[in-house]
Amino acid sequence: MTTPKTGDRVAVVTGASAGIGEATAKTLARHGFHVVCAARRAEPITALAREIGGTAIVTDVTDQESVDALVEQVGKLGAPVSVLVNNAGGARGLEPVAEADIEHWRWMWETNVLGTLRVTRALLPKLVESGDGLIVTVTSIAAFETYDGGAGYTSAKHAQGALHRTLRGELLGKPVRLTEIAPGMVKTDFSLNRFEGDEERAAKVYEGVTPLVAEDVAEVIGFVATRPSHVNLDFVVIRPRDQANATRFNRRS
Ligand SMILES: NC(=O)c1ccc[n+]([C@@H]2O[C@H](COP(=O)([O-])OP(=O)(O)OC[C@H]3O[C@@H](n4cnc5c(N)ncnc54)[C@H](OP(=O)(O)O)[C@@H]3O)[C@@H](O)[C@H]2O)c1
Repeated sequence: MTTPKTGDRVAVVTGASAGIGEATAKTLARHGFHVVCAARRAEPITALAREIGGTAIVTDVTDQESVDALVEQVGKLGAPVSVLVNNAGGARGLEPVAEADIEHWRWMWETNVLGTLRVTRALLPKLVESGDGLIVTVTSIAAFETYDGGAGYTSAKHAQGALHRTLRGELLGKPVRLTEIAPGMVKTDFSLNRFEGDEERAAKVYEGVTPLVAEDVAEVIGFVATRPSHVNLDFVVIRPRDQANATRFNRRS
């Protein structure tokens, strides 16, 4: 754990142990933020925090006590908390509604929706207190599209997006900006996790297309976080050129 220097502003990134969260933590550190890397796996966030001069805090966004502990430790850093990136999340399964796996649905709702709610609610007073706060929520094109087999994920991402967009009105007049980032296909561990370690099935998702990489999304979040404080980028959709929507791709066989 590194202590923030005088004048440093803190950025909290959930799901910083891999993929978009890890890349975002690196980008925000490059922009001068003291980054709190939060996720369940201690090893990758500890290594990342060491690399970028940030702080690793093991956090499970589905566990209220864990989120309370995160906020307490963030408070001890003694620097203003200016940025929260709600990134922890993902998908489980691809079953049609008729065969829905309740545990998959529960995981997706607990992590993407209630996880975002828990962390946002807990850090909101600090973001307001900073005088120039920013909440970035990584939803997905699944927050405004639906596709066969995807209802568990799309319903969770729709709900996460609704939560985030509601705050835009509720916080009007407070010094907090809100940006929703809605990526299309990004090559991370997302599909491997969705298909519970089935590498062949995960690889098929990216076959014949050039997907986004985590850094493509992180760069946009870095841009958002470095705008002047009166500029609010409300909603950014970012897809690979090879993807028109959740189900239409330019696949080269
Ligand atoms: N990849 C895509 O195509 C894509 C597209 C649109 C949106 N997204 C969204 O982007 C976000 C990041 O996904 P990714 O593509 O980077 O996938 P990823 O590589 O699977 O990363 C997911 C991250 O979430 C963390 N996480 C999962 N459950 C958590 C929990 N209970 N508490 C704290 N952290 C938790 C994981 O860390 P631990 O396992 O260490 O906890 C990991 O760091 C997700 O919200 C995802 O829905 C992804």
